[in-house]
Amino acid sequence: MKTDVLLGLQWGDEGKGKIVDVLTPQYDIVARFQGGPNAGHTIEFEDKKFVLHTIPSGIFNERSTNIIGNGVLVDPFILDKELQRLDTTGMDVTQNLYVSRKAHLILPSHRLLDAVYEQAKGEKKIGSTLKGIGPAYTDKTSRNGIRVGDLETAYFDERYAEARKRHFQLASIYNKDFLEVKIEGLVFEQYEQLWLEKLQLLQSLKKIDSEYYLAEALKENKKILAEGAQGTMLDVDFGSYPFVTSSNTTSAGVCNGLGLAPSTIGRVFGIFKAYCTRVGSGPFPTELFDDSGKQLQEKGNEFGATTGRPRRCGWLDLPALKYAVMINGVTELMMMKADVLSGFKEIKVATHYLVNGKETEKVPYSCNQIEVEPVFKTFPGWEEDLSTIKSPEDLPDNFKTYFHFIEKEVGIPIKLISVGPDREQTLLIA
Ligand code: GDP
Ligand code: IMO
Ligand code: MG
Repeated sequence: MKTDVLLGLQWGDEGKGKIVDVLTPQYDIVARFQGGPNAGHTIEFEDKKFVLHTIPSGIFNERSTNIIGNGVLVDPFILDKELQRLDTTGMDVTQNLYVSRKAHLILPSHRLLDAVYEQAKGEKKIGSTLKGIGPAYTDKTSRNGIRVGDLETAYFDERYAEARKRHFQLASIYNKDFLEVKIEGLVFEQYEQLWLEKLQLLQSLKKIDSEYYLAEALKENKKILAEGAQGTMLDVDFGSYPFVTSSNTTSAGVCNGLGLAPSTIGRVFGIFKAYCTRVGSGPFPTELFDDSGKQLQEKGNEFGATTGRPRRCGWLDLPALKYAVMINGVTELMMMKADVLSGFKEIKVATHYLVNGKETEKVPYSCNQIEVEPVFKTFPGWEEDLSTIKSPEDLPDNFKTYFHFIEKEVGIPIKLISVGPDREQTLLIA
């Protein structure tokens, strides 16, 4: 068996959580391979809504095993909150949940550093979720990180104290009053106390050498779905650097985030919204500042699942979508939030960019300093409500024209159309 991959093709929040949940019955294992609690993956069913940050989105299927892979960052404080919320379902989700020993920890002082770095950047801030992602991945690559497996060792306390001291030294360069910076509304020492208490919870979860576990699972013909976080345009190598996250959000990230060989990767499901959104700073060529942008935001309820920040909205960006399809080797596309486009008189799609007066279909090296002007093609809109449609044939003709244009331009079939947040509002295309 191969491992299938599901990931975002835009700037995150494409609806990955919803679709992983929809696909989970077809898989034995669902595994997150990168990111951490900067992610917010929303799942809705039976009038209930859950937002997962670290736990894979297969958790609602009692038959599936869920793995937090080695490429993921784990914050026990946030993981505890997620587990408490899931407790309300009456399911004992910890039975089906495994954490890689090689996953790195987000320490309270990583969150402190995230905050002081962002403050120091002022206008140039990344717009980080302030979950400590950048500092924790920095420690991982600079070989200073602390891993989940270290909790089982005698040297954990010593490592923790060393890291804390080093982080305090760094923080003091940026802000001499760094200890007054609030985390989760608390001053450092109060927050740290709570965080330390949650280590026990992490101790109690099942820990595995996930690379061996997954290799064994593949040998036994088990089906694995790798769940991406963030989106391709936030990838640390291929996104709009430096306005990116600190991990490889692309399909290559599956190999080092789970310990799977490239030859074991099968289908790559690329998820995109029928328009674009971005939360945080950074270039966004098709961003709308007019009533259409407002309409997308309101109709799409475009507010961050992790931070509650309003998401910036714009029309679909084909050069960026094609770029993401290329980088990830997408085999099937999935179009999300199609229902949000109902009621627009006209719908636009950027087919090209104008860069220094020249037309290009390519995403420029950097969009930060140069003007990137999108060139739009306009389509007639539709009034019909898509959210109650049960079969793709019943979709309005103007929607079909829009849909087929995208499919033809990108050159990859769209196999799923999502018309609402609920599991049931999902149309499969044969
Ligand atoms: P993720 O990070 O990719 O999992 O996406 P988020 O959960 O952050 O954001 C997607 C938002 O859109 C969530 O509030 C979902 O409940 C919602 N959503 C997902 N699919 C659809 C859809 O087809 N239509 C509408 N209207 N909302 C959707
Ligand atoms: P999901 O998995 C949308 C954005 C932040 C910021 C940048 C860096 O829910 O799609 P970080 O906290 O990683 O240092 O922030 O990346 N960002 C996301 N945007 N969805 C996400 O995750 C995101 N995770 C990070 O807003 O611009
Ligand atoms: Mg999200």
